[in-house]
Amino acid sequence: MTKITAAISAVGKFVPEYALTNKELETMVDTNDEWITSRTGIKERRILKDKDKGTSYMAIKAAQDLIKKSNIDPKEIDMVIVATATPDMLVASTAAYTATEIGAVNAFSYDLQAACSSFLFGMSTASRYIESGRYKKVLLIGADKMSSVIDYTDRATCIIFGDGAGAALFEPNLEGLGLQDEYLRSDGVGRNFLKIHAGGSIAPASEETIKNGEHFITQEGRTVFKYAVSSMADVSEKMLTRNNLSKDDVDWLVPHQANNRIIEATANRVGLDSEKVMVNIHKYGNTTSATLPLLLADYEKDLKKGNNLIFAAFGGGFTWGAIYLKWAYNS
Ligand code: COA
Repeated sequence: MTKITAAISAVGKFVPEYALTNKELETMVDTNDEWITSRTGIKERRILKDKDKGTSYMAIKAAQDLIKKSNIDPKEIDMVIVATATPDMLVASTAAYTATEIGAVNAFSYDLQAACSSFLFGMSTASRYIESGRYKKVLLIGADKMSSVIDYTDRATCIIFGDGAGAALFEPNLEGLGLQDEYLRSDGVGRNFLKIHAGGSIAPASEETIKNGEHFITQEGRTVFKYAVSSMADVSEKMLTRNNLSKDDVDWLVPHQANNRIIEATANRVGLDSEKVMVNIHKYGNTTSATLPLLLADYEKDLKKGNNLIFAAFGGGFTWGAIYLKWAYNS
């Protein structure tokens, strides 16, 4: 029997219209465009201003973009995974609502949370369902409304994060294209370096937690940076060596967009020139679960069937990893 591999057959995206520029941030906290640009590579980030709209709003828009472009019938979707660190609410799942709103009435769905590695880990999950032979269309959406957990008086975080969503459809492939290999890791040593402390079971919402601003994301940037640089570079290199790929065999590096210096360090370790590295951090900042699918959507027209893509991500937890995927279509 021919082996079933899990390939990405379509992508879609959504980013809110409002662009929060470095210049505007200068009026909010003690920072400047030069510092942000040189330390992170970010020039602006998109913000979903509507107070009554959550992550699902963007997830739905990204999924609808994919459905429209690929002309699929949403009734054929078997499963919807929403990778997110900012679900609409703790319970019920953002994915269940999203699936219903896009007309995926025959699908089951759930959320997946691994901070900035959510989409990468979701690629692994989606692929297993496809490879099993039981499911034919798995929709993986990475979406985050980071502005809902940002303290806009904290210059260590407010300059970095933005809102957005991207979607990818996974389908069976009989030509050997799609996901080839993965190496995924986690380590609870990172728990306190990057977190939203309150609002969960360890510190439920209270007057005290609100007063202390514990529902906002906090990070020890320097520590996270060090772990991210070495981890993303290590796993990317591992993907090449254990699949006998030289740097010339790699067509694209698809790195999580947290900081341009982390992206460059990863690319340098595997010897890739900048033209093979997908980057859109200058436009969107770090959109957490949405960075990888937003890259795919932005670079879709440059991707060719058979291209070798190396995905790499690092996030809170800590969580990190790399995936080797062969692109399956020309757009
Ligand atoms: N504007 C201006 N100055 C700032 C600043 C800002 N927004 N934020 C920090 N600084 C200052 C610091 O106070 C410090 O000043 P000091 O030397 O007088 O104490 C100086 O700049 C350097 O701070 P540091 O934290 O060492 O900067 P950095 O080079 O590590 O850059 C980050 C900070 C947050 C951009 C960087 O650490 C980073 O990207 N970390 C990883 C974040 C990440 O990836 N998070 C998501 C995980 S997926």
